[in-house]
Parts: sequence; C-alpha cells; structure tokens
Amino acid sequence: MSNADAVNLLGKSIIGIENFSAEEIRLVLDTAYKMKQVIRRGGNKKLSNLRGKAIVNLFYEPSTRTRTSFELAGKYLGADVVSINSGTSSIVKGESLRDTLKTIEAMGVDAIVMRHKAEGAADFATQVVEPVIINAGDGAHAHPSQALLDLFTIEQHKGRLAGLKVAIIGDILHSRVARSDVYAMTKVGMEVHLAGPKTLLPRFFEFDDVTVHEEVDDAIKNADVINVLRIQLERQQAGLFPSTREYARVFGINDDRLNLAKDDVLILHPGPQNKGLEISSEVTYCERSAIHDQVQNGVAVRMALLDLTLNGGDLK
Ligand code: NCD
Repeated sequence: MSNADAVNLLGKSIIGIENFSAEEIRLVLDTAYKMKQVIRRGGNKKLSNLRGKAIVNLFYEPSTRTRTSFELAGKYLGADVVSINSGTSSIVKGESLRDTLKTIEAMGVDAIVMRHKAEGAADFATQVVEPVIINAGDGAHAHPSQALLDLFTIEQHKGRLAGLKVAIIGDILHSRVARSDVYAMTKVGMEVHLAGPKTLLPRFFEFDDVTVHEEVDDAIKNADVINVLRIQLERQQAGLFPSTREYARVFGINDDRLNLAKDDVLILHPGPQNKGLEISSEVTYCERSAIHDQVQNGVAVRMALLDLTLNGGDLK
C-alpha cells in the first residue's frame, strides 16, 4: 500500500487523539500549514473545497475560541455553517441528545462539530447518526483539535517536535486538553512531564511514558515548552485546593518560575485564562508566549480537519 492510500481521513469522525496514528497527525499538520497561508493571505480567504457541504456546530458547553474557529474554518472552506447554542435551542425544552442529533441529521448535514459535558458524548453520536462527528470537547475526556493545534504551534516555533521536553501544569485530572495533549505529544516523540496539586493529578495514570511531579519546579526545569492549564472549577468538587492565592503561589506560572525553563521556552495556554491564578499577566504577554498564535493556528488546524474528513484533502 502506498503512503497516500494508508493515510486518509475522508469520512472519518474525529473523537480522540488516541485513535490517530503518527502519520495521520503529520497529515493534519501538513494540511494546516497550507490552510494557515490561506488565512494570512490578504484579500479573499474563501476556498471552494467544501462548497455545497453543510456543517452544524452543536455546543452544550460554553466556548469562544473553539466554536468561533470551527465556524470560520468551515466558512473559509466554502461550507454552510450553522451554530446551535444549547441555551437557545429545544435542548432547554428537554430534548435528548439522540433526538437533537437525529433532527440535525435529517436536515442533510455533512458534519456535526460537538461539545458536551459528558465523556463519550461524541462517540455516542457516531453510533446514532451518519454525518462525520468532530469532537470539540467531551467532559474531561478529549479535545483532539486543541491537541493538534498545540502541536502545530510548537512545531511552527521550534521547527520540530520529537525530542522536545514539554511540561503540562495544573488541573490535569479534569482537563480534556491534558489528556489529548499527552496522547498527541507522546505519539510524536516529545518528552512529557506533568505537575499539579496532588488532588488534581489522576490517581490511576493511564500513560506509562510520562513523568508526573508534585513540584512544578521539577517539571519545568529545562523545559522547551510549558503548557499551562485552566483550573476547571466547573468540573471540580469543592476543596480540591486550599485557596486561589495559595494555588498561584505554589503552582502558578510567573516570571520567577519561567527562569527554571530554557531561555527560549514557549508558553502555551488553551484559554480561557484565570489570570493571576494559573498564569501571571506578565507571562501571558511576554515574548515567549505563543498563546495568541494558538488562536490563529486553531482556525488553520480546524480547516485541515474539516477539509480532510469531508473532502479528503489533497486526495481530490
Ligand atoms: C479548553 C476546553 O474547553 O477544554 N478551552 C478551549 O477549548 N480553548 C480548555 C478550558 O476550558 O480550560
């Protein structure tokens, strides 16, 4: 089988990075480079790759970056895109997820991009409807497009992925970004270190090739990349850390801590940020921060995912 035959996402749903091969990750990143050029070119950004295709964004949880970037990604590719917000749809009247999905399917859509508070919701969708499902976050399980845009941002800044040391800091337990990042980063040969309060580290750790630290300083020593996570207050029971001031002091990423990492360390944060809690304002806006780039790269990576799953990318 030639490589082009082996790596093909056409018609596939994107549920988690655990299902991706290293070659599929490469294909998404290579496609995202082309998409980024389209976004950055002056004048007309609109392509016709997905002309005649319809995409529905179905979000049961709040979102600024992910929802807007999926919507723009679909539009830049020429698709018709509709966003459904759980607060203003029949979901507030108690319609079930299955019925909502069936209703959207009946309207002839080609893809449903969905975010839901329940782990497994996107996978459930693949079992009840035909359109391509793209998981934009299911509870604490997975957020594959975020992990891919994190890799894309790191590669753009560092010129490579394999061999880099990344420290992921904060609320690992409740973070779908952390879980998808760990899968993605280990698959491309990065060295992954995690740190956070003991109460926010998973008790049974499913990854063997990852080092878990209780001290942030141990994780970020000589790091090439630090990915700072938001404290997921909405997914936590009360009392998992003493106080926000204490958290900022012991685990927050600030200028002093940054000195432990490499001089050219890259700072990532998926957003939204709890400023002054997990990250200081100086770090967010320092020249080593790529947080703003992550947002633009999010559009490029989501264009790549939509083009590859709905159009086959370069195959057509
Ligand atoms: C993340 C999410 O929703 O999982 N946000 C995002 O998509 N950029 C991270 C978070 O909410 O902390």
